[in-house]
Amino acid sequence: MSKLKILVINGPNLNMLGIREPDIYGKMTYPKLCEFIKEKADEAGIETCFFQSNHEGAIIDEIHSAYQKFDGIVINPGAFTHYSYAILDALKSVDIPTAEIHISDVDSREEFRKISVIRPACCVCIYGRGYQGYVDAVYELTEKISIK
Ligand code: DQA
Repeated sequence: MSKLKILVINGPNLNMLGIREPDIYGKMTYPKLCEFIKEKADEAGIETCFFQSNHEGAIIDEIHSAYQKFDGIVINPGAFTHYSYAILDALKSVDIPTAEIHISDVDSREEFRKISVIRPACCVCIYGRGYQGYVDAVYELTEKISIK
């Protein structure tokens, strides 16, 4: 059986991990986070690719180019989570099983963070588990894809 392929997308300011509000987002850098996710995914025989951008259109282009190439998408859209209907539409367009992930517990922070406009396009939603949340998202998503 060929390996499942998961695209891990990170949105704005996530390239600043390790520097950005470490009390909320932790001390690991973005490259280290990717290594950590890849290592855990490799252990489970799952292939991962990584993409980060601070630009909404670039994220949309990446989602489009995942069509027929990836089995699943794990996405932390950063602040776009709370207002980007364009990212929601892009996810709906390609109809690839998607997991939404947030490092912080978005439900216990400011009011605006409690709203996710992309959630209707996601079959898994994980938040407040730190970096481990990405690994959990990859595993939970692949479980859903495998039983489909
Ligand atoms: C975040 C939460 C968002 O509200 C915020 O804008 C981010 C990161 C998280 O991972 O906890 O950039 O998605």
